[in-house]
Amino acid sequence: MCPPFSLIFLSFFVLLFHGGFGVDLIEETCRKSVQTDPNLSYNFCLTSLQAVPKSHTSDLKGLGLISINLTKTNATHTNLYIKKLLNQKQISQYCKIRLIDCLDLYSDAIISLKNAIKDFTSRHNFEANIEVSAAMDASTTCEDGFDEMKKCSEASPLTKRNNDMFQLAAISLAIINMVG
Ligand SMILES: *[C@@H]1O[C@H](CO)[C@@H](O)[C@H](O)[C@H]1NC(C)=O
Ligand SMILES: *[C@@H]1O[C@H](CO)[C@@H](O)[C@H](O)[C@H]1NC(C)=O
Ligand SMILES: *[C@@H]1O[C@H](CO)[C@@H](O)[C@H](O)[C@H]1NC(C)=O
Repeated sequence: MCPPFSLIFLSFFVLLFHGGFGVDLIEETCRKSVQTDPNLSYNFCLTSLQAVPKSHTSDLKGLGLISINLTKTNATHTNLYIKKLLNQKQISQYCKIRLIDCLDLYSDAIISLKNAIKDFTSRHNFEANIEVSAAMDASTTCEDGFDEMKKCSEASPLTKRNNDMFQLAAISLAIINMVG
């Protein structure tokens, strides 16, 4: 017993437009995210999400989880990198103070993002929003610390990492808010 051809045809299109082909959802999600925050880069959003294989078959909530998880991975890497920098003898005392601040900020961000994954998974989107916002603030607070201390400028080694973290957190927030 075969279903009529038209039904197969219809199912194919329903699948096509509702999550069967995640690429379209990634593009759409990134486009919407950039609209909510002018500081976001569409290409950054696209390449970040597309790098995770699962993202191609994820729904919006899945993309949100992937995005928060990417933010957490980023924060973890940066946290380790700061520890490494702090072990370098040639780093000045000024920079060291800044780096220790950043280390604290990123350690807290990792905890916030872990909680955000839990909360977003169990539909506590309001809490997830607050936790991801806190992680986003960590990146700007860390970077601002270096800006204030010009003596450290040649050794402000975290600018790209802070920017990446900011972007990933902002994408996560945009998706959390889209899910509602
Ligand atoms: C967005 O970028 C503008 C200018 O580049 C800056 O003044 C503003 O503070 C940024 N907003 C956020 C939330 O970082
Ligand atoms: C988060 O990312 C890590 C490292 O890429 C991966 O091992 C883990 O399965 C991911 N967790 C979720 C919830 O996606
Ligand atoms: C942070 O995430 C971005 C986008 O996924 C990636 O390009 C970058 O290499 C990551 N940085 C670290 C330190 O993990």
